[in-house]
Amino acid sequence: MSGVKKVFQLGENGMDMEGNILRGDEVEIDDKDWYNTGKNYWQVVADKGNSNIDGMLGGQTHVHDSDITESLQFLKNLNVTNFNYVLDCGAGVGRVSQHLLAPIFKNIDILDINKDFLDVAQINLSTLPSKPLRNTLCQGLQDFKATQQIYDVIWVQWASCYLTDVDFITFMNECYNAMTPGSTIVFKENVASKKGGDFVIDKEDCSINRSVQHYHTLFTQCSDKFQFITEKEQLWQGLLPVMMFALRRK
Ligand SMILES: C[S@@+](CC[C@H](N)C(=O)[O-])C[C@H]1O[C@@H](n2cnc3c(N)ncnc32)[C@H](O)[C@@H]1O
Repeated sequence: MSGVKKVFQLGENGMDMEGNILRGDEVEIDDKDWYNTGKNYWQVVADKGNSNIDGMLGGQTHVHDSDITESLQFLKNLNVTNFNYVLDCGAGVGRVSQHLLAPIFKNIDILDINKDFLDVAQINLSTLPSKPLRNTLCQGLQDFKATQQIYDVIWVQWASCYLTDVDFITFMNECYNAMTPGSTIVFKENVASKKGGDFVIDKEDCSINRSVQHYHTLFTQCSDKFQFITEKEQLWQGLLPVMMFALRRK
């Protein structure tokens, strides 16, 4: 089939959401289909009137408070020294921007593939007295291009799971060009528990739960530009484990 490419560097064995075993070295995909499916999935969420926190969290609104509390603690321990400018990637309706980033950072840019979500984020952030929102980037992470070296922190939450491995590396390179020296990038993502294999591909929204090891393999490929700092797990009963990873831009 034309357009089908090897866009993952997966571990040995993984599975899809139906429990079918997938061999990592055999998974190939058409990346246009992959991103269109993901985009359409989130448009359906918006069209159903779920451009809100519940929609962002897949109906698990109860995780919101502890998510923000743990993220704040993680961020505080990173020794970030400049709090001028942050980019929220896969910002959705601005949940993370509003509750985690706005109390800390002076300026915020938000990026998401879905315009409806960003419109809501703009409204939510405009209610804050500090008026932190600067730029709204309606695009996929896979299309992100650095225009200036400005960000002190880039926060990517439940969004890099939509990137193929190839585009993950490209995205990191763009982030490098968009970040100030010594700045920090954080990924907060579901991770595949080893029990389920090295990865789980969800064909419904075209996302991938990578294993912790797999994230490290990707980070290693960017080690000329980023130094891995630390990671921390957050667990909720009945949900996949979530890992926060922090890397410092060289
Ligand atoms: C699970 S929600 C998380 C939203 C937000 N980070 C939060 O924690 O509340 C995933 C978000 O990723 C966005 N998204 C999906 N694919 C994307 C892509 N390729 N590029 C940028 N954003 C994407 C969706 O539109 C949605 O807003």
